[in-house]
Amino acid sequence: MDGNGRWAESRGLPRAAGHRNGVEAARGIIRCAPDLGIGTLTLYAFSADNWQRPETEVRALMWLLREYLRTATPECVENGVRLRVIGRRDRLPITLMAGIEKAEEATAAGRKLQLRVAIDYAAREAIVRAARALAGESDITRERFAAALGAVTHGGGPAPDLDLLVRSGGERRLSDFLLWEAAYAELWFSDVLWPDFKPSHLAEAVRWYHHRERRFGRVPAATTRPAAGA
Ligand code: FPP
Repeated sequence: MDGNGRWAESRGLPRAAGHRNGVEAARGIIRCAPDLGIGTLTLYAFSADNWQRPETEVRALMWLLREYLRTATPECVENGVRLRVIGRRDRLPITLMAGIEKAEEATAAGRKLQLRVAIDYAAREAIVRAARALAGESDITRERFAAALGAVTHGGGPAPDLDLLVRSGGERRLSDFLLWEAAYAELWFSDVLWPDFKPSHLAEAVRWYHHRERRFGRVPAATTRPAAGA
């Protein structure tokens, strides 16, 4: 969700105002996701590296995230959205930690959309934690690794493969986001600054995604020939 800072600065506003409008943009995206056929949506709200931002900005982000969880929970419950936070929790303000637990508990029955909000998240950190959990095992397969990664990332169930990764704000990087899960993700980069990112922009990305031929390393279906002697 890149571009909050630039959106604010271009209007002579503090960066926190950009993040506030970024939260509103996210609300719109969460509401439209099920209608676009999205079953799991992961929003990268705060990376482990974001702690290096100025203290005032970090404080504003923590406050906004807590407020988001508090105000969005009833709507999530009503709309069948299950909210879970991925990432480390031990460095978060206690009030945010409590807010996360409350929101997760209240929305646990949601089945329409799995909403994952990444806070203090770093994919490499999650991978290292999964590796630690498997240390000493003799038969480490991709499946077992994905299960361990799912357990450390969201508390159970294999880490789901990512189908479509959308990055706004003109950046073309992965920035330590779902590195294992994104192995075969289709990548969509948009120049729109996040506070201006509307459901119509996501719909455009989803339409593009539906036209992608996902080969997973195989050749296109039309060129497939039976193997000699088959
Ligand atoms: C980076 O933009 C964006 C973030 C640090 C994420 C902040 C996202 C939100 C506040 C929305 C969270 C929403 C929900 C529902 C959890 P930037 O500040 O790096 O922008 P810039 O590249 O223009 O400086």
